[in-house]
Amino acid sequence: MSSPSRASFGSKFGIIMAAAGSAVGLGNIWRFPIETGQNGGAAFILIYIIAIAPHAYKKLSSHPFWSNIGFIGVLGGSLILCYYVVVAGWVLKYMFLSLDGTLSTLFVPGDASGYESLFGNFVSSPWSPLLFMVLFVLMCHFAIAAGVRKGIEKLSKIFMPALFVILIVLVGFSLFAPGAQEGLSFLFHPDFSKLTTGSVLSAIAQAFYSLSLCMGCLCTYASYFGKDVNIVKSAVSISVIDTMVAIMAGLIIFPAVFSAGISPQSGPSLAFIALPGAFQQAFGSVPAVAYIVSVLFYALLVLAALTSAISLYEVPTAYIHETWHIRRRYAALVVTAVCLMLGTVCSLSMGVLGDLHIFGKSVFDFLDYFCTTIMMPLSGVFIAIFLGWVVKRDIFMDDVTNGRTLRAAPAGVIHWLLRWVAPILLLAAFLGVLGVI
Ligand code: TRP
Repeated sequence: MSSPSRASFGSKFGIIMAAAGSAVGLGNIWRFPIETGQNGGAAFILIYIIAIAPHAYKKLSSHPFWSNIGFIGVLGGSLILCYYVVVAGWVLKYMFLSLDGTLSTLFVPGDASGYESLFGNFVSSPWSPLLFMVLFVLMCHFAIAAGVRKGIEKLSKIFMPALFVILIVLVGFSLFAPGAQEGLSFLFHPDFSKLTTGSVLSAIAQAFYSLSLCMGCLCTYASYFGKDVNIVKSAVSISVIDTMVAIMAGLIIFPAVFSAGISPQSGPSLAFIALPGAFQQAFGSVPAVAYIVSVLFYALLVLAALTSAISLYEVPTAYIHETWHIRRRYAALVVTAVCLMLGTVCSLSMGVLGDLHIFGKSVFDFLDYFCTTIMMPLSGVFIAIFLGWVVKRDIFMDDVTNGRTLRAAPAGVIHWLLRWVAPILLLAAFLGVLGVI
C-alpha cells in the first residue's frame, strides 16, 4: 500500500508545469521536425497518467506477472536517462559556445564544414562532453534531491514559463527571417503521398516519446497528484502544450533552415551543425540578433532537457526510495552513480569506445533503439491490456472520474480504447517498427 511518506504536488499549475516539463524536451525539438504534425495523442497519454505509482500494478493485481510490469518502466526510464544526459551535455556546451561567440565566428556562408568539424571533434573527444554531462547530471541530482515540491515542482514552475517566453521571442524573430515563407509552407503543407504505414507507425512511437509515455514518468508524477485532479483534463492540457511547443519549435527551425538554403533534416546534425549556421545566415545582417537567437535557442534546449531529464530521474529515485526504504536523497545518489557510469560509456561510444558494438550498433544508438523501439511499445501493450482487461472496470472508472464526481462518458470511451484499440495499435507499431509487418 502507499507509504505514508508519499510526496505530493502543491498546486494544479505545478502539476501541469511538471508534467508538461517532462513531455517538452529534446524530442520536441529534434525528433519532431521530420515527423511534423503527427505527435498529438491525448488518448495515449491517459494510458499512463491514470496509473498511480511504479507500485500501482502491484496494488491493483496480485498476479506476479502484472505486479512486475511497472518495473519495465523503471528500467526503461533509467536507460533513456543515461543517454539523454549525454545529449543534454552537448546542448549545455553549445549554450556556452554561443555565449562566447564561437558559433558566430565559425560562420562561412554556404559552408557548414566549420560546424561539422566542431561538432565531430567535440563529441568524439573524451573529456569535454563528459564534463558537460557531469554538470548536467549534477543539476538534475540537486533538483531531485530537493524533493517533489521544492525540487521538481518549483523548478518546473519557473523553467516552463521561461521556456514559453523564449519560444515566443524566437518565433517572432524567425517569422521575419528572409525565406520564412518557404519554411512555413514546408511545415503546414504536408505531403500526404509520403505518408506510408511505416511513417504512421513511427509517428506513434514519436507521440509516445514526445509525451513521455510508458516509462514511468507520468505514472510517477500522477502518483503525486491529489485526488481532486481531473486527469482527463490534465492529460489533454499536457498533450496540447507539448504539441504546441513542437509546432513552435518547427516555426523557429524551418524558416531559419530554409532561409539558409539547407535541406531540412533531423537528429544531431540539425541542432548542432545546420542550425548554428542557419541562424547566422538568416539573421547575420544584424549580428546582435543572430547572437541573441543562438543563445536563446540553446538556453531553450537546456531548459527543455532539464525538466524532461528530471522526470526520468524521478522514476528510479521514487522506486528505490520506496522499495529499499531509504531516504530520497540517498536514492538519488544511487541513480546519479548509475547514470554517471552508463552515461560515461554512452558518451565515450562517440569516440574512444566507438568500436564497442552491441548488435551492430554503438552503445548510444543501441540504448536509444532498445528503449524507444522495443521497451516503450512493449510496455505500452502491457499497460493497455492491464488497464483494459486485468483491472476491474469499476476501479478504473472510479479512478478516472474521481470517485464518480466527474462525467463518466470520457472515462468509458478511454476504457473502451484501452481494451480494443490501444493494444492492437501498439502491437502493430511494435511489429511495424521492428519490420515484421
Ligand atoms: N518527452 C521527452 C522529450 O520529448 C523525453 C522523455 C522524458 C521521455 N521522459 C520520457 C521519453 C519517458 C520517453 C519516455 O524529449
